[in-house]
Amino acid sequence: MVHTWSPGRGVIIGTRTREAEEDMAMRMGLIGVGRIGLVHARTLRGIEQVGSTVIADIDPARARAVAAEVGASAVGSVDAVGSVDELFAAGIDAVVIAAPTPYHATLIRSALAAGVPVFCEKPIAGDLAETRALVAEAATAGVPVQVGFQRRFDPGYAALREAVAAGKLGWLHTLRGCTSDPAPPHADYLPGSGGIFRDCSVHDYDAVRFVTGREVVEVYATGANRGEEFFAAAGDVDTGVSTLTLDDGTLAVCTATRYNGAGYDVRLEACGSAGTLVAGLDSRAPLPPAFPVGAAYGGFLERFAVAYDAELRTFVEVAAGRAENPCGPDEALAALLVAEAATRSWQSHRPVALAEVDQ
Ligand SMILES: NC(=O)c1ccc[n+]([C@@H]2O[C@H](COP(=O)([O-])OP(=O)(O)OC[C@H]3O[C@@H](n4cnc5c(N)ncnc54)[C@H](O)[C@@H]3O)[C@@H](O)[C@H]2O)c1
Repeated sequence: MVHTWSPGRGVIIGTRTREAEEDMAMRMGLIGVGRIGLVHARTLRGIEQVGSTVIADIDPARARAVAAEVGASAVGSVDAVGSVDELFAAGIDAVVIAAPTPYHATLIRSALAAGVPVFCEKPIAGDLAETRALVAEAATAGVPVQVGFQRRFDPGYAALREAVAAGKLGWLHTLRGCTSDPAPPHADYLPGSGGIFRDCSVHDYDAVRFVTGREVVEVYATGANRGEEFFAAAGDVDTGVSTLTLDDGTLAVCTATRYNGAGYDVRLEACGSAGTLVAGLDSRAPLPPAFPVGAAYGGFLERFAVAYDAELRTFVEVAAGRAENPCGPDEALAALLVAEAATRSWQSHRPVALAEVDQ
């Protein structure tokens, strides 16, 4: 079915708006219900504007199991279908893509062809050329594509952005971001991950851009392998550090590691001439002896539960034409360019200007 998506619907029908009637009937597709897709399925079941959800997974038994689990307590109906083709034929109004990265570009194109607004987990594509192509295709289609950079919906990161924009920190001199996983992924994950800068630090690069409103102009990165040998075998590092220079001269340091035994640690400090603020330094941050007060964060699902919920609720508003897209594919491209520069810098042991990779 091909929809013609148009923003700003809303015609008065008696005391209710057509918008409200349509919202009650919003039919949401969800593709891929693994780790993050299950989180999205659980969020969708509680959004009252979502009248029904259709789930597809390459493993149909998994799609059925998740539909049964979330359907039991959902606001609307939840059904599993046997394939992605069936999902697009089911008359969906919007789609959430949480399949593995190599399928993102194809699935986004299917949604654009159907005129269906898309929420897609990061990254939207595996490489720069494909990402650029998707940015252009989404613009031509005029259909919203919201990218899952969930840190933008974390209250701490949002507060940082507000404080910087309001001038409360004065002029910024330094940002310090970290993404520290408690334990490495399985070796099979690495070859398709793009490496630590594209896979992990890309979230920090987006956060630095989001919080400061500035662009990155140069990156100097390095990396090390002191853990399992499979990182080096995959042409990757288990720990990476990148130093960014922003277009106003502000410096940012982003660290990433696959080995943080204390727990999952994701923070961003913004330090300015008039003050410093930190996102992610809460009672569960794994920083003994001051923190954690309770159990340290074990992983991204716990740390960003609030953000995952908020980003999908916003997507429903975007799909209904009532909200601006908060994170379009151009944002994914901008963060990926920084990751490309970081990867090239680490490989060549030299600073890399963004202009060098943005060609
Ligand atoms: N924003 C975040 O914090 C965050 C966190 C985790 C993962 N992600 C992203 O989400 C995506 C999924 O990651 P995950 O960890 O949930 O993966 P996963 O392997 O746990 O789950 C993927 C699911 O998709 C299904 N699948 C595989 N191929 C498919 C296809 N062609 N069509 C439909 N379904 C298919 C699998 O059966 C599985 O159920 C990745 O792109 C990853 O980068 C983002």
